[in-house]
Amino acid sequence: MKVFVPRDAAALSLGAEAVARAISEYADAHNLRLTLVRNGTRGMTWLEPLVEVESARGRIAYGPVTPAEVPGLFAADFLRGGPHPLCQGLTEEIAYFKQQQRLTFARVGVVDPLSAADYVAHGGYAGLKQALTLTPAAIVQAVLDSGLRGRGGAAFPTGIKWKTVLDAPAPQKYVTCNADEGDSGTFADRMLMEGDPFCLIEGMTIAGIAVGATQGYIYLRAEYPHAYRTLKAALEDAYRGGFLGANLLDSGRRFDLEVRLGAGAYICGEETSMLESLEGRRGEVRVRPPLPAIKGLFGQPTIVNNVISLSSVPVILEKGAAYYRDFGVGKSRGTLPIQLAGNLKRGGLVERAFGVTLRELLYDYGGGSASGRPLRAVQVGGPLGAYIPASQFDTPVDYEALSAIGALLGHGGIVAFDDTVDMAQMARYAMEFCAEESCGKCTPCRIGSTRGVELMDRILQGEPGDANLDLVQELCETMLHGSLCGLGGMTPFPVQSAIKHFPEDFRGRTRQ
Ligand SMILES: Cc1cc2nc3c(=O)[nH]c(=O)nc-3n(C[C@H](O)[C@H](O)[C@H](O)COP(=O)(O)O)c2cc1C
Ligand code: SF4
Repeated sequence: MKVFVPRDAAALSLGAEAVARAISEYADAHNLRLTLVRNGTRGMTWLEPLVEVESARGRIAYGPVTPAEVPGLFAADFLRGGPHPLCQGLTEEIAYFKQQQRLTFARVGVVDPLSAADYVAHGGYAGLKQALTLTPAAIVQAVLDSGLRGRGGAAFPTGIKWKTVLDAPAPQKYVTCNADEGDSGTFADRMLMEGDPFCLIEGMTIAGIAVGATQGYIYLRAEYPHAYRTLKAALEDAYRGGFLGANLLDSGRRFDLEVRLGAGAYICGEETSMLESLEGRRGEVRVRPPLPAIKGLFGQPTIVNNVISLSSVPVILEKGAAYYRDFGVGKSRGTLPIQLAGNLKRGGLVERAFGVTLRELLYDYGGGSASGRPLRAVQVGGPLGAYIPASQFDTPVDYEALSAIGALLGHGGIVAFDDTVDMAQMARYAMEFCAEESCGKCTPCRIGSTRGVELMDRILQGEPGDANLDLVQELCETMLHGSLCGLGGMTPFPVQSAIKHFPEDFRGRTRQ
């Protein structure tokens, strides 16, 4: 009998380790034979720790489970799917899960993340096998045709980036994975690396074969110790199984892959800072051009892609570019793992084709606010994303539609706020975040953000007149147009959107 208890960091933080121990101890004490699999999470965070048992009809879910409830679950014969107040029925029939379109996350929560054999048993490595039958140019063309755009934030077409690296002659090329995932409210990269690391390893290997790179690096944020351990163990198993190294799947092709821990700074997620950090220097932004695709890691042509971009490649190679492209709308093709966070009843991960609206995500999936109060705003795309008011919740999640309302999708994180939020405080927070995280290389960001905090403080204290607000607006324009990278350049988005949509929080505050 198989019992699944997640090893995902979110589940662990909610007590999954103690639940796993309680199940093992109870089974030992009562001479019950069961196999405990430590899987990834299904992404329904409000049900964690979610325990699943295998049945002929599919996996049956119980959650959220506490160690104290374990004897009761055994008494209810949960190993055979017995009824219990915590029983959620078949996992894949839970509405939150059933109404998703899981392509990239198809195996997350399903497979044993530490076993290459289990990955293969669930259809893994079909993409790489297909890639090994194609020319590099044909692999790149498939990625291009799929319409895949970078999921790290900038939404640049992945195939064009790969083609640039393919066409750049060099003795050594690299594939680097940006797993710094610094945006507030985002966790898709972590969830994938902890739940299905072989998917990322396969995607990076395909990238290496496609552009002629024999070495890859995963740049992982240091604050992800569980993902680090999972990746290390998965990489070892991939080498053991011949999925990495000098003779991939007996093809005579080579690809080596290592994981490197990040330096703990938000700016290290910006691709050129990441490369500096990977080379052992302080994470500071490089001036472009040259692009990393031409002159990247150690001066060589380098792919820099986000975890989700690379992990979307296996399904594209396995099922074909047209299959992937058929999902989505307009120029936003495929699916997006959307992360629901903040003041919502049901936080978690929802993978859907582009085109789903914010309202569907916030209410049909998220269940509205956790506080029971009306939702007033969401911030989409991390700390540098714009605030979107409730009147625009019918906007579809697609790059162009969000850009048309002055917002951005970024890495697909959505953080919800109810009507108690003070948007002037949120604008101050954006400036403070920039001041804390600025790499200091250019003046508008380094100094502007600190001046921005001071101005916001004066507004918050209720200094009379609009002079401070006018200055904030002017400062935002300077940062927008004068910053060297997106940190300084995008900090104005949350500030300006907060002022535009919620002017009542800024004007006419009384002196405190
Ligand atoms: C300040 C800043 C922080 C960033 N942080 C991340 C990050 O944590 N992860 C990520 O994948 N991309 C991040 N990016 C975007 C990267 O610079 C780059 O566009 C991305 O890694 C390219 O991969 P993609 O094309 O697959 O999205 C950041 C950009 C900026 C300006
Ligand atoms: S905008 Fe900020 S983070 Fe980016 S290069 Fe300038 S100082 Fe560094």
